[in-house]
Amino acid sequence: MVRNIVILTGAGISAESGLGTFRDADGLWSRYPLEDVATPEGFARDPVLVHEFYNARRENAAQAVPNDAHKALARLQADWPGRVSIVTQNVDGLHEAAGARDLIHMHGELARALCARCGHRWDAPERMAKDDPCPACGAAATRPDVVWFGEMPYRMETILSLIDDADIFAAIGTSGNVYPAAGFVQEALGAGAHTVELNLEPSAVVSAFDETRFGPATQIVPDWVAELLQRRAE
Ligand code: OAD
Repeated sequence: MVRNIVILTGAGISAESGLGTFRDADGLWSRYPLEDVATPEGFARDPVLVHEFYNARRENAAQAVPNDAHKALARLQADWPGRVSIVTQNVDGLHEAAGARDLIHMHGELARALCARCGHRWDAPERMAKDDPCPACGAAATRPDVVWFGEMPYRMETILSLIDDADIFAAIGTSGNVYPAAGFVQEALGAGAHTVELNLEPSAVVSAFDETRFGPATQIVPDWVAELLQRRAE
């Protein structure tokens, strides 16, 4: 039987590519107050600071390369007979760099810019600045196309319908602290899916998962993918 898989990823999958997580020791939120750099209010108060924060992250992400976990998920998408959808909270481009195809960036992308005035989106330059004009309407209201706290994540309707059709739901490298993503496992259980957590350590919502696998993503994700593909071949 062909089975659909939905995979939620978080910062932990990109940690071994050299990109920092948010809530681990020395994580981004211990160095930059989240209220200052990841809320609409913070951007209204100090757009220069917020652009500098995302410019630095865009530069780091541009230098990073996909690791064995990103590559294993792309391989699963290529070789699995059913649909494999990746829903990422990450704003880096490492899933697509590894060859992922069916991918939703629910928290936006560092590589994209958004006009807060007219809603136009375009490829972000390496460095964005407060007074950059929107190429469509000319307003100096450009912002990174990332979802901030207090804003609605992108493509929620599509994500929920994918989860409703999922036979397997996996969460990889996410601490389970940020909703609505942290609630997807409950949605998946309601839909009758088998749920798997793959993480360095138990997340805040670990008790909701049927199966858990702990360790660095570059080890446990390729192992899990190999097992799925092996079981399918038997
Ligand atoms: P967090 O920083 O909250 O959690 C990262 C998770 O990855 C933790 O559970 C770690 O144990 C795990 N981890 C760390 N290194 C790992 C490794 N090598 N292999 C496997 N797992 C590892 O990041 P997220 O859960 O992604 O949102 O955070 C969710 C959202 O909160 C982000 O998208 C961002 C943030 O605030 C916004 O900015 C809106």
